[in-house]
Amino acid sequence: MSNTKVTLAGVELKNPVMTASGTFGSGAEYSEFVDLNKLGGVVTKGVANVPWPGNPTPRVTETASGMLNAIGLQNPGIDLFCKRDIPFLKQYDTKIIVNVCGKSTEDYCEVVERLADEPVDLLEINVSCPNVKEGGIAFGQNPQALEAITKEVKKYAKQPIIMKLSPNVTDITEMAKAAEAGGADILSLINTLTGMKIDIYRKTFALANKTGGMSGPAVKPVAVRMVYQVAQAVGLPIIGMGGIATAEDALEFIMAGATAVSVGTANFFNPYATVEIAEGIERFMEQQNVEDINQLIGVVK
Ligand SMILES: Cc1cc2nc3c(=O)[nH]c(=O)nc-3n(C[C@H](O)[C@H](O)[C@H](O)COP(=O)(O)O)c2cc1C
Repeated sequence: MSNTKVTLAGVELKNPVMTASGTFGSGAEYSEFVDLNKLGGVVTKGVANVPWPGNPTPRVTETASGMLNAIGLQNPGIDLFCKRDIPFLKQYDTKIIVNVCGKSTEDYCEVVERLADEPVDLLEINVSCPNVKEGGIAFGQNPQALEAITKEVKKYAKQPIIMKLSPNVTDITEMAKAAEAGGADILSLINTLTGMKIDIYRKTFALANKTGGMSGPAVKPVAVRMVYQVAQAVGLPIIGMGGIATAEDALEFIMAGATAVSVGTANFFNPYATVEIAEGIERFMEQQNVEDINQLIGVVK
């Protein structure tokens, strides 16, 4: 049996396959299709200090080999999340990663503090959502702001912190270094790429928000390139994502330098994608005589 266990800031995952925030609810929606015990970790939808209604509809639309979304981080707020979603996930033998969003540094810190004594393994700080006007991306596109918010969040966090980076920047390595300087334990990338679609019959934007975040197979080469660049620039472990739909896709990210991977949009067209990817990685390792997945991480220099 080959070893598929990987470690992120001292937290051991049974395999490197996780869900991508916002594409898997908090696990309950998919638990009819997917045995959550087979996943390395479940990353929840972003949660804020208070409930958010999200953006007006329409807020999702298809693109060639991908999609645009402008959900706007609709979420139930931290109170209901702690009461309902964490106990649900605790029934499973998988790691729990909570994605955190906010409009101000204080919002983020409040959620992180609330989660400090909850049975949660890692926190992923979303400073890269392109679909909200305040907070989010405002922190993720400016290296000084990113370093500052990382430092603040670290003051309140008991769990290791993942800073989730935006691809909507000129130089992703500058942002990765800023998060590292602020004390991030892990980096995840990429969030969605800002895009637009026009409905030519209605002569208006396909999304009420005008722009949306692009995800799915079409973004994968951009994401692999960015994971590779970040792996060369900083010493932190990386969670790679962006268009992963198959085990082969996941292995590209791992060889480019990712310790773990997240599967997002693929869940919408194949609810079994995560487990199929975890099984496919094992099959690849057996076929290629790879005894330990860790031998593949960052093997491409
Ligand atoms: C419908 C939808 C909702 C999302 N919601 C969140 C979110 O709440 N927090 C976050 O950090 N990323 C969110 N994302 C971004 C994904 O987690 C991921 O970074 C991105 O979609 C790229 O991966 P993919 O191509 O596999 O989907 C969302 C993406 C989609 C498609």
